[in-house]
Amino acid sequence: MSNLEITSILKSNQSVSVPQLGLGVWKARPKECLEAVKSALSFGYRHIDTAAIYGNEAEVGSAIQESGLNRSEIFLVTKLWNADQGYESTLRAIDVSLKKLGTDYVDMYLIHFPVSGKRNESWKALEKIKSEGKAKSIGVSNFMVSHLKELLKETGTVPAMNQVEYHPFLQDTELKEYCQKNGILLEAYSPLAHGQKLEDSRLTKIANRYHKSNAQILIRWSLQAGNVVIPKSINPTRIKENADVFDFVLSENDMKEISSWNENFRTCWDPTTVE
Ligand SMILES: NC(=O)c1ccc[n+]([C@@H]2O[C@H](COP(=O)([O-])OP(=O)(O)OC[C@H]3O[C@@H](n4cnc5c(N)ncnc54)[C@H](OP(=O)(O)O)[C@@H]3O)[C@@H](O)[C@H]2O)c1
Repeated sequence: MSNLEITSILKSNQSVSVPQLGLGVWKARPKECLEAVKSALSFGYRHIDTAAIYGNEAEVGSAIQESGLNRSEIFLVTKLWNADQGYESTLRAIDVSLKKLGTDYVDMYLIHFPVSGKRNESWKALEKIKSEGKAKSIGVSNFMVSHLKELLKETGTVPAMNQVEYHPFLQDTELKEYCQKNGILLEAYSPLAHGQKLEDSRLTKIANRYHKSNAQILIRWSLQAGNVVIPKSINPTRIKENADVFDFVLSENDMKEISSWNENFRTCWDPTTVE
């Protein structure tokens, strides 16, 4: 994990190559989102994570078009919103997302949340969407081990990726091991703990030693841990800073120390109680 670069990719079980660092755009208002994605692409990011519910797919699409990059150079992810779950409604939802994004395919389509009674039929629709080429690969988000096991039992397939909240203060090691065993990439959302742990004094101590920011240490820790990582920022200086994490390596001891900070600190919704 020492020779990571901004172009580093991870391979999933669907033989898809996922750029390990991406930009998240949750809570980025449309105009902010347009500028953020353009900045990120100019700094070398090649993976953008949006969702139907974020209300900024159109701006993500415009930024990609305005970037001058080929569509094929960018790994674009969007997500199926809860209200659209179900077989037919999922098939309609992807068409709406693609229209807004101004593209005829996404690189990965994710089920945003494991909605009870709906998620398995939604997954079957995702398989059809993949077979039609509207998504190059398909995955899930906020799925716990029980949801993944049920999906395998009901549909016989495993997702390419599982996007979950993951940072030093929230580590579900059982889920991580299950994903590793099944070739499912673990994508760490809220890798900066939504900005709520950036003042942690233990983090500052380590960051000072590497002459890096606290945010950079959190991102580097997650990359070295083998996760796909999608920090969000709408600030160009911070977007650049968050990608400036490839000129140092956290020592084994520091990786261990940071990995010992789990306190089940959740900043986003809690899927562990979903039947
Ligand atoms: N699937 C899901 O259910 C789900 C849930 C949550 C998130 N996500 C995805 O994961 C992405 C990231 O998660 P997140 O947005 O919750 O939180 P995050 O990336 O952990 O943190 C974002 C917060 O940190 C600030 N920040 C970013 N870089 C910084 C830096 N270098 N120094 C100081 N502050 C910095 C941002 O503010 P500024 O923007 O002002 O810089 C923002 O307030 C989302 O955008 C979304 O794509 C998915």
